[in-house]
Amino acid sequence: MSDFFKGSKEFFPGIGKIGFEGKGSDNPLAFKFYNPGATVGAKTMEEHLRFSIAYWHSFCGDGVDPFGNATMDYPWAGEDMDGARMKLDAAFEFFTKIGAPFYAFHDADMAPAGDNQVEFEKNLMEMTDLARERQDATGVQLLWGTANMFSHPRYMNGAASNPDFAVIGHAAHQVKAALDATIKLGGSGFTFWGGREGYQTLWNTDMRRELDHIARFFAMARDYGRQQGFTGTFYIEPKAMEPSKHQYDFDASTVIGFLRHYGLDKDFKCNIEANHATLAGHDFVHDLRVCRDNGLLGSVDANRGDLMNGWDTDEFPTDVYQTTLAMIEILRMGGFTTGGLNFDAKRRRNSTDPEDLFLAHIAGMDAFAVGLAAAQKIIDDGKIDEMVKTRYASWDTGAGADFEAGKLTLEELAKMGEAGEPAIVSGKQEYIESLVNQYLFA
Ligand code: XUL
Ligand code: CO
Repeated sequence: MSDFFKGSKEFFPGIGKIGFEGKGSDNPLAFKFYNPGATVGAKTMEEHLRFSIAYWHSFCGDGVDPFGNATMDYPWAGEDMDGARMKLDAAFEFFTKIGAPFYAFHDADMAPAGDNQVEFEKNLMEMTDLARERQDATGVQLLWGTANMFSHPRYMNGAASNPDFAVIGHAAHQVKAALDATIKLGGSGFTFWGGREGYQTLWNTDMRRELDHIARFFAMARDYGRQQGFTGTFYIEPKAMEPSKHQYDFDASTVIGFLRHYGLDKDFKCNIEANHATLAGHDFVHDLRVCRDNGLLGSVDANRGDLMNGWDTDEFPTDVYQTTLAMIEILRMGGFTTGGLNFDAKRRRNSTDPEDLFLAHIAGMDAFAVGLAAAQKIIDDGKIDEMVKTRYASWDTGAGADFEAGKLTLEELAKMGEAGEPAIVSGKQEYIESLVNQYLFA
């Protein structure tokens, strides 16, 4: 057992377990709105929100950007096993102090690369044995695991979509090990984010073949996982671009079409990331709705972008309008099953104090608690639902219902078009937006 669990070494000294103090509190290190045990509808906040901490941003990301060096000084920095063990202890100290029931990780976040893939796997197995011990000691669970198949140079031209077959074996080796680790840790999901699964130029790309190869690879991963007893959900995380110029998992609609086309939609769902949806030119809630309508909303990477920037800034989600819209979709699908709200978010590189990691997560958790409470109010009150229902009432009876039932021909419909001009009906957008403000702030 590590020093941390003997209570003699802390990575975040002076910060205890973050408690709920309510909206009147001026303690920065306390929740103002997230009260884990408080009931909203049929479940507690903790059960609804299923918060997860992203290992990569919180314990690996050190403020490096394309123009500048690290701004955050981690005692566990370094590419060796000692550093990795220290990082693991820091991570579990953070999970328990912030009160997050889940975490998510890439193989490469937790295990040093070693000299080759076999060594990497050995390191991963050793580190995940320790993670299993930490999980058992703390009760923190794994939301999902994943294989980082975008950082290593061998994946420059893609992982499963690489034009060179020699690369695919390496991808398989990595995914097999990451799946083994996820199963060992009792993870309820396994994510594929295809950062290099796409192209830089179609001049040198056989898109059809690359898509077939990715699908085959996913099917193999699914078959292996199921054989090994993995009962969780496989997720694909859509993103339009960055790092590739164009990524195959462009947005929720594209991914759902892909899953259905290749018959993968029984085992795979989407992991929707707010900032990825906006990169694709959609609102966050658009991609959530597309998934919910298709029964394929699995999990959420909770963050947000900057409206002025067209790239993936991975900011903490503090916009309560966005969290309200998101929570309406999540409540309406009946809540998460295997998924959760994973903070795929990083504090700004200028937020350099260790306590900023806490403050950032508190801000995000509070914003989702506000969104959850407002979403439940909006659903319970039913006023907005009623307006939507009324808006579509002409389809409920008569010719509208016949249309939906497939009972009308184009000629019959065209005949109806000879009637007088339809009434001009207001969409009432501004009124609805003011109602939302009332639900949030009244
Ligand atoms: C990258 C991203 C990843 C995935 C996991 O934009 O979101 O961190 O969530 O690979
Ligand atoms: Co993500």
